[in-house]
Amino acid sequence: METLSSVKKMQDLALSKNKAGIRIGFVPTMGFLHEGHLQLIDVAKKNSDWVVLSIFVNPTQFAPNEDLDRYPRDLARDQKLAAARGVDVCFTPTAEEIYPGGDQSVVLLTELTRGLCGPFRPGHFRGVTTVVAKLFNLVRPDVAIFGEKDYQQLRVLSKMVEDLHFPIEILAVPTFRETDGLAMSSRNVYLSSAERQEATHIVQGLRKAQEALAKGKTSSKQLIQLAKEAMVSGGNIQLEYLEIVDANSLAAVDQVIQPSRILTAVRLNQNRLIDNLPLNP
Ligand code: PAF
Repeated sequence: METLSSVKKMQDLALSKNKAGIRIGFVPTMGFLHEGHLQLIDVAKKNSDWVVLSIFVNPTQFAPNEDLDRYPRDLARDQKLAAARGVDVCFTPTAEEIYPGGDQSVVLLTELTRGLCGPFRPGHFRGVTTVVAKLFNLVRPDVAIFGEKDYQQLRVLSKMVEDLHFPIEILAVPTFRETDGLAMSSRNVYLSSAERQEATHIVQGLRKAQEALAKGKTSSKQLIQLAKEAMVSGGNIQLEYLEIVDANSLAAVDQVIQPSRILTAVRLNQNRLIDNLPLNP
């Protein structure tokens, strides 16, 4: 595996692969890889000839009060894991090269970023769409892989690709979970063992909604109430939001009678955790 940090070298190499008809698979990450990321690489390998993994802790998607400075990093370990999984190029650009002369040019989606995490993380999605558009221009992928763990991000990026006519296929990969159900996240290292234990209530709550739907309850209000009771039962979880939305438009639904999604963001002491599950009637 080759590691490249120069944006020019990355783009030149990618353009030469495009010209040679080699199908490029792309997995954008912020590093500190876990099994969830590695499964995205597996999907990229199955769906392309040449796989690029980017590792870039993108400063513009963090608000000033967020965890940019302490975001976990371990490049040497990431490189070993990526190479073992068959990545061809590990792209590790610097912020100076990604944002030459600041961040004047931005990509901003309106509707899909308005709800859910949007109001709680002002500027976050603008940072994500801007950096992913830049990375797409540098890596020139035919297919890009994203996890369903960040479901709103997945929808936002899929819409960006559609709206801006990027010739890129987006593949979504279901959330990879620990054996007790907790969604894998690089940020899970922030949790104390007591918090780690209590965090399992999140998915348990979301599963309660899935189970009730399977038994015929379709009222979003009732499903949300059931999920909420299970999530807050440990005493420390505080909901930022818990909503049921249409799986594509992310608009709130009153009745789960079309493919939908239950999504949540919670605070557990100093930590912010997100998770979601499909609700298919
Ligand atoms: O999901 C992430 O890790 C990031 O938001 C992404 C897509 C790599 C953009 O920085």
